[in-house]
Amino acid sequence: MTSFGAAPSGDHLSPSTRSGYEKIPWWQRVIIYEIATISFQDSNGDGKGDLAGLLSRTDYLEWLGIGAVWLTPVYPSPMLDLGYDIADYCAIDPTFGTLDFDRLIQELHQRDIRLILDFVPNHTSDQHPWFLESRSSRRNPKRDWYIWADPSDNGGPPNNWQSRFSGSAWQWDDTTGQYYYHSFLREQPDLNWRSPAVREAMAEVLRFWMKRGVDGFRVDASAVLAKDELLRDNPVDPEADESKPPPQRYKNTFTDDRPEAMTYLADLRKVVGEFDERMLCGEVQGKTDRIGHFYGQDNPRLHLPLNFALLDSPWDAISLQANIDAYLNAIPDKAWPDWVVGGHDKHRIASKLGQAQARNLAMLLLTLKGTPFFYAGDELGMEQITIPADRVTDPFEKLVPGYDLNRDPERAPMRWDDSLNGGFSKGEPWLPMGLGVAERNVAVLQKDDRSLLQLYKRLIALRVSEPGLIVGDYVPVPSRNDILTYRRVVDGEAIFVALNLVPEARRLTWQGAGRLLLTTHLDQFHGERVRGPLLLRPDEGVVIKLKD
Ligand code: NOJ
Repeated sequence: MTSFGAAPSGDHLSPSTRSGYEKIPWWQRVIIYEIATISFQDSNGDGKGDLAGLLSRTDYLEWLGIGAVWLTPVYPSPMLDLGYDIADYCAIDPTFGTLDFDRLIQELHQRDIRLILDFVPNHTSDQHPWFLESRSSRRNPKRDWYIWADPSDNGGPPNNWQSRFSGSAWQWDDTTGQYYYHSFLREQPDLNWRSPAVREAMAEVLRFWMKRGVDGFRVDASAVLAKDELLRDNPVDPEADESKPPPQRYKNTFTDDRPEAMTYLADLRKVVGEFDERMLCGEVQGKTDRIGHFYGQDNPRLHLPLNFALLDSPWDAISLQANIDAYLNAIPDKAWPDWVVGGHDKHRIASKLGQAQARNLAMLLLTLKGTPFFYAGDELGMEQITIPADRVTDPFEKLVPGYDLNRDPERAPMRWDDSLNGGFSKGEPWLPMGLGVAERNVAVLQKDDRSLLQLYKRLIALRVSEPGLIVGDYVPVPSRNDILTYRRVVDGEAIFVALNLVPEARRLTWQGAGRLLLTTHLDQFHGERVRGPLLLRPDEGVVIKLKD
């Protein structure tokens, strides 16, 4: 295990800003790219991605136009849950490297790319020294750093709270004769955020990384930081039937979104505010109607509570338009939106939509108002891979089989070229590479002017040349004929987006005129004059700059 010494001087290496966008914070103008660290690039042949590997791929990030990367946890961990079981918050796991971290941050900043770390405040590994102390005796000073409780009157667990990963969330501890609480695996005991000492220790973790130059954090499981102090039972969810896995058959009334959790998030925001230009985004595990709370108003909480509305929406123009509206209406007036279309917990969107519509998804993501997040490999159209039974690593699948909860299929390694293991590793990759690596990899798609990868690159570049796509208001236009339509408007200029969401040609009954900035097919002369009505080809999306 490698621990850091003192932070290097110079604290935060401030990247230069891209011209033209100085007025808005960096996290409103960049693309945020999630990297599952273990699946991006291996440098030493152990089959697992690492920081040195990532360092060797910064050219690619810059080529694509990525403005910030978010890394899944890189800290020492028994790795029972992709590193979300942390045994030391202020060090790097040897699997991922050592001081490569400082080189990485320097290299990214030189390329004007920010670094966001995953921050897992709700729980530690049961191997964390804090927990080892806490469970050693009821009188240990760290006893109240975790949530301990006596059995209920009938001698069983204190209440009916369920672990997200199945079964009671309470684990009996023989040594001290009490239960401890774990929202996730029993090897991931929850910290007790009611303890001021815990809150201060976690604030120190943030400061530690910010002093090293980290630009922001993705707060893991931020909705569950506080639990009901009276330990009241959660009510059964009347809408959840047997099709849901057992842990999802209760409403999480007394374990999620508690008012105290909102206070703790506001405290974290203040810590982040001690440093210039840092950002907090966070997993809120929620439905659209709850997302607004996580921004806070007078007492700001997260800058960007992560919004999965596009991923969860049915893929038709009317539903999408409704879900976009519902989300924008659910967040406070001055809040900055965000859109997430992939992640290490979500099935690959290209598998849900197919390759043709994955192009429209890219256009939608990168032309809506709000910070776009996508997940390494989405830009290649990576799909779910098949995991043989003996290669399953995800505890979710192991504990709750049969509900399509396995997250391994979306965690397969990145494919760079058609060499051994797609250029990911010279050793056996920790998960299978999946099929079609020779046809779908970075090198092949970079050479193809019309590939999805090139479309991502073009769209990202378009946001820079057309700032209206970043700062312009979102103005819905009623969607008809299976075509999702909206405008982005700023300073008397307007950009019109029309996405044909079906595999047949559709008439766009639009009467305007303008210049074609981009089509998802990447085959027409961009800049050409167009006048409505237009016939959109099957699966075609277009971005048009309107004449005044
Ligand atoms: C949310 C993370 O995204 C997920 O991968 C993990 O399993 C849980 N938190 C528990 O840490």
